[in-house]
Amino acid sequence: KNIAIIMGGYSSEYKISLISGNVVKQYLDKKKYNGFRIHIFKEKWVYVDEKDAEFPIDRNDFSVTVNGEKIKFDCVFNAIHGSPGEDGLMQAYFELLGIPQTSCDYYQAAVTFNKRDLLSVLKPYGIKTAISYYLNKGDVINTAEIVKKVGLPCFVKPNKAGSSFGISKVKTEAELPIAIEVAYKEDNEIIIESFLDGTEVSVGVINYKGEIIVLPITEIVSDNDFFDYEAKYEGKSQEITPARISDELTQKIGETAKRAYEVLKMKGFSRSEFIIVNNEPHMLEMNTIPGLTTESLIPQQAKAAGISLEDLFTNAIELALA
Ligand code: DAL
Ligand code: MG
Repeated sequence: KNIAIIMGGYSSEYKISLISGNVVKQYLDKKKYNGFRIHIFKEKWVYVDEKDAEFPIDRNDFSVTVNGEKIKFDCVFNAIHGSPGEDGLMQAYFELLGIPQTSCDYYQAAVTFNKRDLLSVLKPYGIKTAISYYLNKGDVINTAEIVKKVGLPCFVKPNKAGSSFGISKVKTEAELPIAIEVAYKEDNEIIIESFLDGTEVSVGVINYKGEIIVLPITEIVSDNDFFDYEAKYEGKSQEITPARISDELTQKIGETAKRAYEVLKMKGFSRSEFIIVNNEPHMLEMNTIPGLTTESLIPQQAKAAGISLEDLFTNAIELALA
């Protein structure tokens, strides 16, 4: 079968996505699947062959013509972090075209990629979060009001972004305007959250062979002030799987993450982040196209669960095609 591995994207995360996409290509079961690297950039959508030659994608049916032969795809493996791969745009496009895809559907992608909307959808189900304050580009910035609501320190984040791009930990009111400006570079909406003082953990929930399973939980110990880009991808953190937390807490976090997955009617991959405060997991976000680089957490968690990358990717495709 022909599998289009889509990678790249329009956000700052495109470099991470290219790495994820190439890992997928490398570990795809070559006996079963013919993996095609498809680069999705604002300027061009192209199939990139083994020799790095590029062939334009026909956006009417997502086909590509190579040496006079039209190639159609049986399934899309989505490895695009950020827009348009994680926010529902590509999902909607493939749903319209009727091409099976490994990711969740467009609605789930759109809701989860919007931190404010995700957390407000989950709150009525008892899932705890930080205290938050929202800003839209053009809003008057009242720093005293922000500090009164969320306290200090606090986190200023683009509402729709990933890999910690545009995130700052703010310790004084005077630092807020610059942090807000930095976050606006990634998104026109901002979420400012209270500082949750506790252990950060990350947990994958996936559909594996038709069953929703919770992967081993990873504990994150950052050398930096928080789990920023450098901590994530340049080794400035320790990622400990399974997390050094009690069985009871492990169970509770797993149940919370699984509940979020079920409430949202998710499909495919998910990886949720929590901070544990007073034995209570507080949710920060959920990623539906989690990183698949060798430094990324889902590959580490799958390995700890005894699932090889080849099995993980094969499973995602088989579920999409089922
Ligand atoms: N947004 C990055 C790729 C992640 O969640 O792993
Ligand atoms: Mg994220």
